[in-house]
Amino acid sequence: MAWDRQITLKTAAELEVMREAGKINAEALAAARAAIRPGATTADVNAAAEEVLRKYNVISPFKNYPGPYPYPASTCVSVNEELVHGIPSKSRKLKEGDIVTVDCGTVYKGFVADSAFTAGVGEISETARKLLEVTEGALYEGIRQMVVGKRVGDVSAAIQQYVESRGFHVTREYTGHGVGRRMHEGPQVPNYGTPGRGIELRAGMTIALEPMVLVKTWQTRVMPDEWTVSSADGSLTAHFEHSVAVTEAGPRILTLPDGAE
Ligand code: MF3
Ligand code: CO
Repeated sequence: MAWDRQITLKTAAELEVMREAGKINAEALAAARAAIRPGATTADVNAAAEEVLRKYNVISPFKNYPGPYPYPASTCVSVNEELVHGIPSKSRKLKEGDIVTVDCGTVYKGFVADSAFTAGVGEISETARKLLEVTEGALYEGIRQMVVGKRVGDVSAAIQQYVESRGFHVTREYTGHGVGRRMHEGPQVPNYGTPGRGIELRAGMTIALEPMVLVKTWQTRVMPDEWTVSSADGSLTAHFEHSVAVTEAGPRILTLPDGAE
């Protein structure tokens, strides 16, 4: 992926713009969530999010993102063993028991919000339910470490420890990332690491933290469409993401819905 490694510190005013981007993004994700039901296609889920982006006259930074070929949609919709970067499709129908990840971005006044969730379609298995709970829990464990003076390794290790102590696995190949005027800025924030290592967190840093969790293995493979990343063994996966600011007052989640902060 194209990656600008620079770390940029945001001013208070810039954080307010990023918060507005985050609210729109949360509304798009809520619409996508409401479209998840048996018989809906992953293209329907994408269309629900796109309708919200269109209402605000904003675009997703995912659209045309450089890769093997320009990314063709505004969201990634990844089902079951698909970990990330599933391309919405009119031929992929959701069914009861599936788990589906929706990842969406918004560019608003030059700043990016990036967030994702995984949800069940109707009744899901006990393993799937636990996977969702642990992956979302890991995101909040990581966020708790996003304090001035802590290091990237503290955030990474908290995620890894939370996930692995519950018997699941974290990806080694995809990471969280700084977010700002660009979707991908420095620092890279892996979902595994060593406490006390890595760069120090400073006020004004904004990071898209995104635990990607697999039930049986950390290994993945890229599917023939060249974008979709699946678990190597076909086992279930989940992914939760928030864009979060490091502030003197503690971590601030920028991608919560309006009124939820
Ligand atoms: N949220 C993802 C990320 O942080 C999705 C971007 S993939 C794209 O990398 F290609 F669709 F843009
Ligand atoms: Co991201």
